[in-house]
Amino acid sequence: MNYPDYRPRRMRRTEGLRRLVRETRLSVDDFVYPMFVVPGTGVEKPITSMPGQFNYSVDKAVEAASRAADLGIPAVLLFGIPEHKDAVGSEAWKDQGVVQKAIRAIKKARPNLVVMVDACFCEYTDHGHCGVLQHGELDNDASLENLARASLSYAKAGCDVVAPSGMLDGFVSAVRESLDEDGFDQCAIMAYSVKYASAYYGPFREAVDSAPQSGDRRGHQMDYANVAEAVREAGMDAAEGADIIMVKPALAYLDVVRAVSDEINLPIAAYAVSGEYAMIEAAAAAGWIDKERIVMETLTGIRRAGSDIIISYHAPYAAALLAKK
Ligand code: PBG
Ligand code: ZN
Repeated sequence: MNYPDYRPRRMRRTEGLRRLVRETRLSVDDFVYPMFVVPGTGVEKPITSMPGQFNYSVDKAVEAASRAADLGIPAVLLFGIPEHKDAVGSEAWKDQGVVQKAIRAIKKARPNLVVMVDACFCEYTDHGHCGVLQHGELDNDASLENLARASLSYAKAGCDVVAPSGMLDGFVSAVRESLDEDGFDQCAIMAYSVKYASAYYGPFREAVDSAPQSGDRRGHQMDYANVAEAVREAGMDAAEGADIIMVKPALAYLDVVRAVSDEINLPIAAYAVSGEYAMIEAAAAAGWIDKERIVMETLTGIRRAGSDIIISYHAPYAAALLAKK
């Protein structure tokens, strides 16, 4: 394989040749579209720091989910913003909670659309932490009990996948046991196995009003300097029965996606988070980058790093571009 006998440029000469030797193919089949559901009806409130994304009431969420389904997107990931927040986040497991209503309404309108639900308490607690506090600290095992309760209520409402996101120790076993005990052995778990304590979640916390009132999440989310620990976390969740392992954020963590996907024989999801979306949107709005090309390049990079599934606010935009080609 030496020049001049081998000339790599030969296979880059035309789009036809490039298509033949392309190693990574981005498909609408890879996408999950995250959505924020709020109380009320007819609500479609723009999220300022995430242009093009909205807080939807259930009726509007059904419309948005249907548009995603029409574009061929296989799955949505729901976040609920409750009517009232309290110290333990009890609305998270209310049968008539906003996210439970959204699950039922979306599954009714679009039975074939996969409905995933984020299961955590930071959107539901008045202090903004991901579970029950004990002397100002997150009480792991007490929070697990509530997580099991909330997950069960999402399964009862008809979701296909529960996605526990709090990075609590033992959260996959707790959810799996609770689902199995009640006969929901077919409800899958997508574990936020490798979730970093990241400034990239800034716009999301505005969208769901979940910034911690005091302190931060570094006691449970991972230190962004670590990767061996990521493989360890993913291995634990796989052993506890996770069906999909997630790495989050995506763009600054592609080496982590690679390390985890090399080690773990399960589908790997990468979550391109709110800050990643906001950076692209802001630079594109300023005319500093070409949005179409940046979005495709970024999503392809996330796949090339070894993810099977990409969770992205750009999913409908990218799906429309892929359909055009
Ligand atoms: C926690 C949760 C967060 C995100 C998804 N689930 C935020 C956090 O840990 O503060 C971030 C998503 C994003 O930034 O797009 N329920
Ligand atoms: Zn949380």
